[in-house]
Amino acid sequence: MQASKPSDPRIVPADADGMARAVTILREGRPVALPTETVYGLAADASRADAVAAIYRTKGRPDFNPLIVHVPDMTSARAIASFDERAEKLAAAFWPGPLTLVLPLQEDAGIAPAVTAGLPTIALRCPAHPVMREVLQASGLYLAAPSANRSGAISPTEAAHVAASLGDGLELILDGGPCKAGLESTIVALRNFEDAPSGWQLLRPGPIDPVAIAALLGEPAIPLADQRIEAPGQLASHYAPGKPLRLGAVSADADEWLIGFGDVAGQDTLSAAGDLAEAAASLYAALHRADASDRARIAVAPVPVGGMGDAINDRLKRAAAG
Ligand code: TXA
Ligand code: MG
Repeated sequence: MQASKPSDPRIVPADADGMARAVTILREGRPVALPTETVYGLAADASRADAVAAIYRTKGRPDFNPLIVHVPDMTSARAIASFDERAEKLAAAFWPGPLTLVLPLQEDAGIAPAVTAGLPTIALRCPAHPVMREVLQASGLYLAAPSANRSGAISPTEAAHVAASLGDGLELILDGGPCKAGLESTIVALRNFEDAPSGWQLLRPGPIDPVAIAALLGEPAIPLADQRIEAPGQLASHYAPGKPLRLGAVSADADEWLIGFGDVAGQDTLSAAGDLAEAAASLYAALHRADASDRARIAVAPVPVGGMGDAINDRLKRAAAG
């Protein structure tokens, strides 16, 4: 990965001026990169086929991979997707925030077909980040926004990661500092809408603990085994750095850049204190640094399972499969 210069003219502060520029570009149907509480997103008007095509083109994303649509509030969300009692409950508990709900798409929602890649469902998220919220409100648009990186590469948690990953295909990156959560939203699909409303699946682990979702819905998740892969974030190789990556390392070989955790110290650490939230927030930046280092290989210390540890290990496994 080529490091981008801090003076990159595409990176502008996420102040009133920067946000106004973003709104103008979005209204003209072109994409803008901006921060959310999870990772930086590459946003564009979800109602315009040309704007959505520009997202796919900029990311080099396969067109079978549908996008998440971001909305400012529940009124907008209900205009796009069908909400049953379960969906209402989850939204009330976790929105605005890092939860994406996969729900039946309303026919008259006005969402460009490329957003859902032909699925009868849509992935919706009401984000908490003040910059994303302000741009949603000021533009009056529903924003399709995948993570702002080349398809399959490491997700961006800083404006400079976006500039380095998306090359010249982008005119504006709003800089809102590092992302707080650092891992993409938890994706939950609610099943059996029309008949008995029951059954849900965890399509992607993330900052919202599935244990809390199961408690709210009163039933455990249906396992994903044997299911058609709907979310390419579920593909074995994803979030991948350019170098071989070894997991569960307690010390570094000569050519390895070791990313530590807790007692395992390395060239870098996810969290010296062994804190999982801190580790999630620093994971992608640490992978970006490891990729840019002079060592040929990357090793990562063991990260304990449970809670945010499951989401971190999920991303590490896919990064190692690259
Ligand atoms: O935290 C996040 O969710 C970030 C920020 C920018 O909001 N966005 C993000 O988007 O991670 P993306 O496009 O990188 O991941 C969206 C995932 C993909 O794995 C996609 O396949 C899945 O959501 N997805 C989208 N629509 C779906 C649908 N109708 N059914 C199942 N999966 C869907
Ligand atoms: Mg992504």
